[in-house]
Amino acid sequence: MSQDNNKNAILTIDGKNFTLPVVRGTEGDKAIDISRLLQDTGYMTLDTGYKNTGSCRSAITYLDGNDGILRYRGYAIEELAEKCLFIEVAYLLIHGHLPNKTEFDDFKYLLRRFALLHEDMIHFFDHFPPNAPPMSILSVMVNSLCNYYPEMSDDPLENINMAATRLISKIRTIAAFSYKKSLGHPLVYPRPDLNYCGNFLNMMFDKPVHPYEVRPEVVAAVNKLLILHADHEQNCSTSTVRLVGSAGVNLYASISAGINALWGPLHGGANEAVVAMLEMIHADGNDFKKYIDKAKDKSDPFKLSGFGHRVYKTYDPRGTIIQEACDDLLSLLNISDPLLDIARQLEEIALNDDYFIERHLFPNVDFYSGIIYRAIGIPTNMFTVMFALGRLPGWIAQWKEQQEDPTTKIGRPRQVYTGEVFREFVPMKDR
Ligand code: SDX
Repeated sequence: MSQDNNKNAILTIDGKNFTLPVVRGTEGDKAIDISRLLQDTGYMTLDTGYKNTGSCRSAITYLDGNDGILRYRGYAIEELAEKCLFIEVAYLLIHGHLPNKTEFDDFKYLLRRFALLHEDMIHFFDHFPPNAPPMSILSVMVNSLCNYYPEMSDDPLENINMAATRLISKIRTIAAFSYKKSLGHPLVYPRPDLNYCGNFLNMMFDKPVHPYEVRPEVVAAVNKLLILHADHEQNCSTSTVRLVGSAGVNLYASISAGINALWGPLHGGANEAVVAMLEMIHADGNDFKKYIDKAKDKSDPFKLSGFGHRVYKTYDPRGTIIQEACDDLLSLLNISDPLLDIARQLEEIALNDDYFIERHLFPNVDFYSGIIYRAIGIPTNMFTVMFALGRLPGWIAQWKEQQEDPTTKIGRPRQVYTGEVFREFVPMKDR
């Protein structure tokens, strides 16, 4: 591969040169456009896990994995996490600009108006077994919204803003209702006097016999966590939302697919897996060496959950903010969680071990988030639901960007076939 005077890439195959355009992003990221590769050369590319493949052009989120930079629509994650409300960031991701007062008040009004679920949907919860995984319930209920709000099933672009707002508001209610149902507790309906995160907490934890105190510091912690999870360019679940959406599927069904992808322990399910890992180490007498050795042993499938990242080869900037928020909240609530000490020791040991250093394995967004969720009282099996609540605006923004892009085509990757070559059919009597 070489470059011509116009900086295009020149690919030489079997002595023949092929010119491939070079695409440059606004932050200097470079790509070779191979849209015509197969038809011009007869060759395709192979890139298992898409480690080297860009699926789209996007103006929503920028990551720099070497310098640990994360920006939503150009704004630094550190500033947004410190200075914004989650619904402000949701608006920014979906509409491309921070809302002015009028836009924000209109958005807030719609979120309040859409907070309830259709009463018929509430009967769905009666038919999930009590131990049903909350991510499974979330995916079913979100997918079912298109039955109650059919305008999205006709034209994916129509009412996108209403559907997006409806979904951002209702996903909170679905999550809280599924938790109450799992406990056999009465449902707590949203209140008009509470903000987005305060309403979620109240729906989760308020009880007729024991009213829940919506503490500002807990609301602030949830607000920050949702912002930090709001988008992350073309990760597994976002790519799923885009792929499903590229077939012309409505927003709710596309998001439901993304929820299922996020559920995986290698992806959003890692925050639950981290706490299970820390509890296992705690129960094992804090035998850190045993688990570090297991993580390094190629014959052992065990990995350090919450460590490593496909893009970040330094600290995940979100992990740094979450760790600080963790310290702040636990001291404010006067909680000392032994798992936090174990997490810190594990991080210290791993970051001084050549295996982790050589592979650039640092704590990611999931390593400390579960400690905060525990301190708030959120059950472990709902940690990934919290991730989904945060990621929803990002999924919506990415889906909308794709739907509005006239160059979008249905996603349909190719393969390298490694099976049998042609063979004659043999009737069963002769086999
Ligand atoms: C999220 O993409 C995103 O942006 C995702 C996300 C988002 O906001 O959407 O950031 C959210 O999903 C964060 C990641 C959460 N997952 C985990 O914490 C699970 C543990 N992490 C690993 O499974 C892994 O690091 C991944 C899945 C996150 C990334 O895997 P890659 O990029 O496919 O890298 P790899 O598996 O090829 O690892 C490279 C090397 C391998 O060793 P060698 O074969 O080179 O000897 O590093 C090793 C791996 O075995 N390795 C680990 C490890 N992670 C990678 N070894 C031990 N423990 C780990 N956690």
